[in-house]
Amino acid sequence: MNMKAPRGTQDLLPGITEKWQYVEYALIDLCRRYNYKEIRTPIFEHTELFQRGVGDSTDIVQKEMYTFKDRGDRSLTLRPEGTASVVRSFVENKLFGNASQPTKLFYFGPMFRYERPQQGRMRQFVQFGVEALGSADPAVDAEVIALAMNSYQELGLTSLKLVLNSLGDLESRKNHRQALIDHFAPYREELCEDCQVRLDQNPLRVLDCKKDRNHPAMESAPSILEYLNDQSKAYFEKVKGHLDSMGIDYVVDKNLVRGLDYYNHTAFEIMSDAEGFGAITTLSGGGRYNGLVEDLGGPETPGIGFAMSVERLLMALEAEGIELPLDESLDCYLVSMGELAEETSVKLTYDLRRAGIQVDKDYLGKKFKAQFKAADRLGAKFVLILGDEEVEQNLVKVKNMETGNQEEIPLENVVDHLRSELEAEG
Ligand code: HAM
Repeated sequence: MNMKAPRGTQDLLPGITEKWQYVEYALIDLCRRYNYKEIRTPIFEHTELFQRGVGDSTDIVQKEMYTFKDRGDRSLTLRPEGTASVVRSFVENKLFGNASQPTKLFYFGPMFRYERPQQGRMRQFVQFGVEALGSADPAVDAEVIALAMNSYQELGLTSLKLVLNSLGDLESRKNHRQALIDHFAPYREELCEDCQVRLDQNPLRVLDCKKDRNHPAMESAPSILEYLNDQSKAYFEKVKGHLDSMGIDYVVDKNLVRGLDYYNHTAFEIMSDAEGFGAITTLSGGGRYNGLVEDLGGPETPGIGFAMSVERLLMALEAEGIELPLDESLDCYLVSMGELAEETSVKLTYDLRRAGIQVDKDYLGKKFKAQFKAADRLGAKFVLILGDEEVEQNLVKVKNMETGNQEEIPLENVVDHLRSELEAEG
């Protein structure tokens, strides 16, 4: 019997989950400022959605999907990414009909890819992503890129590199596609089997091949930038202009093609430049996908978005030595001794919690001293001491653990007293 978590997955235990929560709250707050609203879609979808949405010729669809038949013999797939699902939901729920457009959405959630696990590459990972649907304004491209950069900067990261490219519109890509076919045709036999298929299906994917990366024909392959028509060039210039005006640095990389089929115009990735970050340096990626909404059965609607994994974000924080300002203390610990006190302590704990105070107590019948030790270990700001004697006098001792001050407070006033003490502490 194998009782271990499956390869490429991980348990997130207390101590780590606080970091995840901190990051999630920070990103949700960032989305609030940019006015993106949360969407939650199912974790599994009809397989066809990803075949059509992400693209049949991609590694994700060909090699990495967790696909299974349900008991009704339907082919379902654990989502490998969020964009196809968000677009499906946008179409199904007719969000294009809402008065306020573009529709600006964000999401958090587990994604699944059958990849070879290594540091920063998991089989289950959590993506945070945004999608803006319904505007072809280059200012939206700039907004999404700015949001992506801010996501890292807000948390203190500085060793970041923004890499940008344009994949052009349909006409530009058609011309480029032909140029790629002509360029690689003489080397067909030297390319890997996958690339020979890619050359017929989607030659852009050849540029993304991990096996043929060092083939001499790669270096000299025609760049999409040479094939951009005037409109695509103008579009790219506007996006870059907005980034310049916001002071967001970038480098243009004509080889950046991205691993999903739906992209056109703007494509970008954010990398970590931090020393010791590991072999995989891409933190996030995204781009424009005009045409995807129509492909999935909706009306003509432009779109752009990006996604990052929280795993890689946390790795980047570690590589840059950034400690998140987590509050790991406890407002209050209740120490009690004696049968009468124990009964009162259950009720008092309940009252304190209902009043919004964070409180814990002993449940193992520990001795007085050991209970104090537990309070210390948990970082309690206040310790309430309750013995049978105190109960008889209707009192509780309240000890401020920072100053060492101790006061006797009537039982019925403890909640209010503690609340005002905690407020005073901020
Ligand atoms: P992607 O480049 O496939 O794009 O993935 C985006 C990010 O997800 C990566 O940059 C990385 O942070 C994270 N990621 C991907 N695979 C793994 C993995 N196996 N383990 C850990 N992290 C991983 C997309 O998924 C697009 N949907 C992005 C997008 C949104 N484009 C437009 N809108």
